Amino acid sequence: MRTVTLEDVFTHPTTQKYLRRSGIAHAIQVAENAYLISKRFKVNPDLATKAALLHDVGHYTWYKNGQWDYNLYKENDIHAIKGANRAHKLLIEIGEEPRHAKEIAIAILLHTDSYLPDGYLHLNPLQQVVTLADEADEEVGGNHHYKQIDDTIALERIRVLDIKIDEVLHEPVKQLNKMKQIF
Ligand SMILES: [Fe+2]
Repeated sequence: MRTVTLEDVFTHPTTQKYLRRSGIAHAIQVAENAYLISKRFKVNPDLATKAALLHDVGHYTWYKNGQWDYNLYKENDIHAIKGANRAHKLLIEIGEEPRHAKEIAIAILLHTDSYLPDGYLHLNPLQQVVTLADEADEEVGGNHHYKQIDDTIALERIRVLDIKIDEVLHEPVKQLNKMKQIF
């Protein structure tokens, strides 16, 4: 049984503050993508959707002379690091199981390698789900961050995801045992 729903996470003031910066429509689309992809990767949809919803809460606004400066952002961005930290803090605050909060935070930390020196990241299935879910909604020039969504529709889509996640988590134990346990 979950102690924290996606709605609890979505309505938290920290989530609302930072997702309004990086794009609520994008975050919800990535959470929905993560729900679908989690089935294919047999990972816990609760953790996948929470990590997906929060993956961009670490964004900073890189403005220069009142304009967003894409080059400044590209050179200096560490949003995955900041996001992992913010997400972990808020999840613990609202009572998330600490092992789950850690899994979610690490998936956020590794959802992009844009801040790392060249190399290879070996992602576990949960981390792959979040990365793929994000990439599936990316648009040229970062336009996915500017898509708009009505507040009521946003909350409805989060609630629908919560219902779907609960359905999966309440499937017979036999089904759950097929999932790779990541906690
Ligand atoms: Fe993103």
